[in-house]
Amino acid sequence: MNNNDSVSTVAPLLSVVVPCYNEVDNVEELTHRLAETLQGISWEVIFVDDDSPDKTSQKVADLAFQNPRVRLVHRIGRRGLSSACVEGMLSSSAPYLAVMDADLQHDETLLPDMLTALRSQQLDIVVGSRYTNGGDIGGWDAKRAAYSRFATRISRYFTQTELTDPMSGFFMIRREVLMQRVRRLSSVGFKILLDLFASSSTPMNFLELPYTFKERHAGESKLDNRALLEFGMLLLDKWMGHLVPVRFVAFTLVGGIGLFVHFLVLLLVFRIISSSFILGQTAATLVAMTTNYLLNNFFTYNDVQLKGWKLLTGWFSFILVCGIGAAANVGIAPCSFNDIPIGCSPLWQG
Ligand code: GDD
Ligand code: MN
Repeated sequence: MNNNDSVSTVAPLLSVVVPCYNEVDNVEELTHRLAETLQGISWEVIFVDDDSPDKTSQKVADLAFQNPRVRLVHRIGRRGLSSACVEGMLSSSAPYLAVMDADLQHDETLLPDMLTALRSQQLDIVVGSRYTNGGDIGGWDAKRAAYSRFATRISRYFTQTELTDPMSGFFMIRREVLMQRVRRLSSVGFKILLDLFASSSTPMNFLELPYTFKERHAGESKLDNRALLEFGMLLLDKWMGHLVPVRFVAFTLVGGIGLFVHFLVLLLVFRIISSSFILGQTAATLVAMTTNYLLNNFFTYNDVQLKGWKLLTGWFSFILVCGIGAAANVGIAPCSFNDIPIGCSPLWQG
C-alpha cells in the first residue's frame, strides 16, 4: 500500500465512516481494500470504535500512525452503531460521507460509483441495496432473511419512500444533507439509514445501487436481541418521539412492570410465606426496585448500560436514592391496608 502519497496533504473529498466493535482483524484489510478501490480520489477512513475489548482502537491507532488517511474516534463508556456513525460523520469536514461496516460484508468497490453518482446527479444520498435489481442478500439463512424482509416492510412504512433497502448500513450522503437533518436524528440502535430517511421533513432524493452482501471477513456479528430491541425503540421514537422522549416511554413501561412484580411478591410473601403485611410490603418494594433497576439498565439505558462491579454499585446508589420513597411506601401502605389514619401506622408505633 502506498501510504505516503502526495494526495494525503489534500483535504479529503470523501470520508468513509466505519463503526466498529471487536473488529481487530478486519480494519487493516478494509483499509487496504479502500486504498485499492479509491485510487485517484482524495479520501480518508474514520473508524469509530466503542472501546472494544479486543483492542480495535489500538490497532486503528497503529494504522493511523503509518497512514494519514486513517483516523480514529475512540468512544469510552458508550455503545451504539447509529450514534457511532453520526459522531464519525460529524468529525469529518469532507463534502461526501460514506458509511460502511468494518467486516467487509459491504462491497467497497461500489464506493467510486456512489461518489460519481452523487457528484454528477441531483442526489442527496446513494444507498447500497441488497433488494434492488441485481442486489443479493448472499448466504443468509432463511430465518435471518425472513427477519430482514419483515423489518424492511415495517421500515418502508415509517420512511414513506420507495427505498428497497431502508435497513442498509451502506450509503454515501452529501455533508450538507446530513447537516440539515442531524439534529432530528434519534441515533438509537443499528439503523442509521432508516433514521435519516424518517427524520427528513422533505423527501430525500436517492439512488440505489445493487450489491451482494458478502460473508463476514473475521469476528462475529453484533446483531442480537439487543439490536432488535433498539430497532423497536427507534420506530417508537419516530412514531411518538415528537410528543414524548422514547426513554420516558421505556421508563414508564418498566415502571408498569415493576408494579406488577410488586403485587406478585406481596401476594407470595404475605399470603403464602408469612402473614405479616409489613414484611410482604418490604420484600415487594425491594424486589420491585431491583427489577426496575435491572430492566431500566437493560432497556431504557441500554446505550450506557452498567456491567460487572458498576452494576452492583449502581444498584446500591439506586436503592439509596429510592430509599426515601420506599420508606414512605412501607410506612404508609399498612395504613391503607388496615384502613387506619396515616399517623397511626404500625411502623411509627414500633
Ligand atoms: N462503534 C460501534 N458500536 N460499532 C458497532 C456497534 C457498536 O455498538 N455494534 C456494531 N458495530 C459495528 C460492527 O463492528 C460492524 O462494523 C458494523 O457495526 C455492523 O455490525 P454487524 O454486527 O456486522 O451487523 P450485521 O452484519 O449483522 O448487519 C449489518 O449489515 C446490515 C446490512 O447492511 C448492519 O449494518 C445492519 O444495520 C445492516 O442492515
Ligand atoms: Mn456484518
